[in-house]
Amino acid sequence: MKNALHFKRLSSDDPCLQITWNGKPLDAVAGETVAACLLANSVLAFQGEDLSDPPRGPFCMMGACYTCRVLVNGVEQQACMVEVKQDMHVSCVDPEKEILHAGS
Ligand code: FES
Repeated sequence: MKNALHFKRLSSDDPCLQITWNGKPLDAVAGETVAACLLANSVLAFQGEDLSDPPRGPFCMMGACYTCRVLVNGVEQQACMVEVKQDMHVSCVDPEKEILHAGS
């Protein structure tokens, strides 16, 4: 997606943790939210991909809109409200419908 470059981390934020998104390893920075981590790794849509369920990603980044829902270690949560932890397993709520990565 064209706007993927809008979500870069600050240069001083060195990734030091690893999480997985739908089984793929991603670098994460301690203290960032799951939503911020996914965006920094060019994951723009967290849910949906077909016409009846268009792709959705985080909108408010403050827990109000629920467009960032993901499974964190098997539990549905708002990605913008959960801080990354080492070896956290994050996936879309319906893994059959989603995976939009920039450049894919
Ligand atoms: S982005 Fe709105 S609730 Fe997470």
